[in-house]
Amino acid sequence: MDGGPRPPTIRSVHPRLLLPARTTTGPETLAEYRARGGYDGLMRQLRDGTPERLRADVAAAGLRGRGGAAFPTARKWDLAARSGHDTRYVVANGGEHEPGSNKDRFLVEQHPHAVLEGLMLAGIATGATKGWLYLIEDMHGPRASAEAALRELDDAGMMHMPIAIHLGPTTYVAGEETAVLSAIEGKPAKPRKKPPYPGEQGLFEKPTTVNNTETLAHVAWIARNGAEAFAAIGTEQSKGTLLFTLGEQVRRPGVHELPFGATYRELIERCGGGLANGRPVRAVLPAMSCGFLLAEHLDVPIAYETLRPLGSSPGCGGVRLVDDTTDVVALAVEIAEFFMQEQCGQCPPCRMETNQFVHILKAVQQGKGPGYAEKLQKLAAFSHKKGFCSLIEMAAAPVLSAVRCFADDFAAAAGPGAPTGS
Ligand SMILES: Cc1cc2nc3c(=O)[nH]c(=O)nc-3n(C[C@H](O)[C@H](O)[C@H](O)COP(=O)(O)O)c2cc1C
Ligand code: SF4
Repeated sequence: MDGGPRPPTIRSVHPRLLLPARTTTGPETLAEYRARGGYDGLMRQLRDGTPERLRADVAAAGLRGRGGAAFPTARKWDLAARSGHDTRYVVANGGEHEPGSNKDRFLVEQHPHAVLEGLMLAGIATGATKGWLYLIEDMHGPRASAEAALRELDDAGMMHMPIAIHLGPTTYVAGEETAVLSAIEGKPAKPRKKPPYPGEQGLFEKPTTVNNTETLAHVAWIARNGAEAFAAIGTEQSKGTLLFTLGEQVRRPGVHELPFGATYRELIERCGGGLANGRPVRAVLPAMSCGFLLAEHLDVPIAYETLRPLGSSPGCGGVRLVDDTTDVVALAVEIAEFFMQEQCGQCPPCRMETNQFVHILKAVQQGKGPGYAEKLQKLAAFSHKKGFCSLIEMAAAPVLSAVRCFADDFAAAAGPGAPTGS
């Protein structure tokens, strides 16, 4: 042994936990979901489970949040469960508005019961008395599916906990967990300063657990099939499967499910059918707020522990591809403009960073010479952790990574700059 990090265990099977093969189309009904064991986990939990045992099972499964930050789900639950308040709440966060990501929308629309079962289980695990499914205003299909699923549950007498649907505004920050809480309270959907964290003081000042909808669908699977079965899928530190969204850049766009340990090459070629324009992949952006991975990383097993050393992460799985026809400087400008437009204006460092990023990158596009890399790095370092939410860091990751990964493209675009001397 050389003492270096152990390679993750790669499973050869590709189980689909959340997106089963189906013989029907349209939203999965209660009958269909029950026919594949849906709600068995909840029934078992209600019959002979305890909240402590459920939290321990989810901890043993190694489930981490799928909203992007990969926080261990059971640790978040423990915070609310041990808060000492009598009234607690849970929220399923489906406020997805990251360009290129469509998995929460797809999951809620096609498999609403998996999300609702997970939400009720999260309620039991944290001692919550009410749950919300948070969507955004333009999610008409997911909303209709969720409403129909709630009616089915009500008719079947299976509503273990009252659940309301809330529609937040169609903005990016409205998906941040404290912005979600503010939106449900009827206030502007902007992030709040933390601490206090939602698990300590959330909705209406009561301890509240916010979980991504995909995370909750995994909770339902774990309650049905056991922690061991879940932990057997994936890699050393990244368990289970992950949903990915592939856009029109590939031949088969859509939402795909792969276990951790699979590779971006498999995702792009096997699931996506390769690039629609037939060009080879030059780089992958695993999600808008992550660092780029180069073609040489296409066979790296996808896992938190393998992508972090490469300056990236699987994020929320909204994959963007770069080929040899992509203008990478224009792509960096597009990403920077998105964050500049979507930042909510509350924190001066965030406003400054996101505006300056666009300004500096546009100067590169206009051939105004070198010095941009240092300026971008200085700005990111100055702003780091100075916002109410992590949008500051999310905006910096792809921009700094683009300058690093595509150094020659940036240098060529920036040109030599104004001549000095004489
Ligand atoms: C700007 C911003 C936008 C976010 N948007 C979403 C979102 O649309 N959906 C989501 O689940 N989490 C989003 N998050 C992360 C949430 O704040 C939170 O971490 C997540 O909902 C927790 O669920 P999880 O632990 O199951 O991942 C966002 C975070 C930030 C900073
Ligand atoms: S860091 Fe940016 S997006 Fe987050 S609250 Fe502050 S200004 Fe808004």
